[in-house]
Amino acid sequence: MKIIHLSDTHIYTKILYNIDAQDRFRLALNHIKNNHSDADYFMITGDLTNFGDNESYEIFINILSKATLPNHLYPKLIIGNHDNRINFKNNFPNIKIDVNGFVQYVERDDDKIFIFLDTNLEGTDAGHLCNKRLQWLKDTLEIEHKNKIYIFMHHNPLATGHIESDNLGLVQREDLKNILLKYQNCIKHIFFGHQHITCSGKYLGITFSSPRSTWSPLVPNFLNRFRLGTANTDPNYNIILLEEDSLIVHSEDFLKTDVNWFTDN
Ligand SMILES: [Fe+2]
Ligand SMILES: [Fe+2]
Repeated sequence: MKIIHLSDTHIYTKILYNIDAQDRFRLALNHIKNNHSDADYFMITGDLTNFGDNESYEIFINILSKATLPNHLYPKLIIGNHDNRINFKNNFPNIKIDVNGFVQYVERDDDKIFIFLDTNLEGTDAGHLCNKRLQWLKDTLEIEHKNKIYIFMHHNPLATGHIESDNLGLVQREDLKNILLKYQNCIKHIFFGHQHITCSGKYLGITFSSPRSTWSPLVPNFLNRFRLGTANTDPNYNIILLEEDSLIVHSEDFLKTDVNWFTDN
């Protein structure tokens, strides 16, 4: 199975910080079309827009439709701190929601279960999983724990660098940690975005990965003095190759398209 994991498109009507989010989203989709039309799934983990306004969602939808990806690669979406849940739901009326109206849902592929979480709380950039959302996750895991679980969320569930520089991460880290510990044997991977950094590792015995933003790539901080920084690095998205006995995460620097393939095999 091949999964495309892209994040943090930050679409807006205007260019922000001298980086054209619309253009970069177009280039990323074009790269996907040219290289990964054979993928099974396409997931975008939030911060689809920069301000959550309707016009930006319309632009996002328009760019997506013009990319003419194969139908089965219409992306599975969740929201991030930069999104607006009401506007998102109005623009994506077919998106599944949970009993409480949060953008949380399950997708099933044989014995693989993809769980999508909603960590948005209006008025803050930090991630939140309130008691209702945590309960939905617990209930879902209780039903599905005999399958292989893959979790998709916008915010990082753990500090990816110094804990003091992670004030925009998930606030209810401990609550989520307790749930993850209980189901660590069936949860196979956690996918997230938000920090705009390429990052991977293992947490509570569960592997995780995040791509940079397609809009503004950031560089990680290893001290408590800074949260993150900007640099002249590339944006990217991730390609996950999933087999019965392995999970491989590749990063695609989609702005670099001048490739010379070896032909001597
Ligand atoms: Fe973001
Ligand atoms: Fe974010």
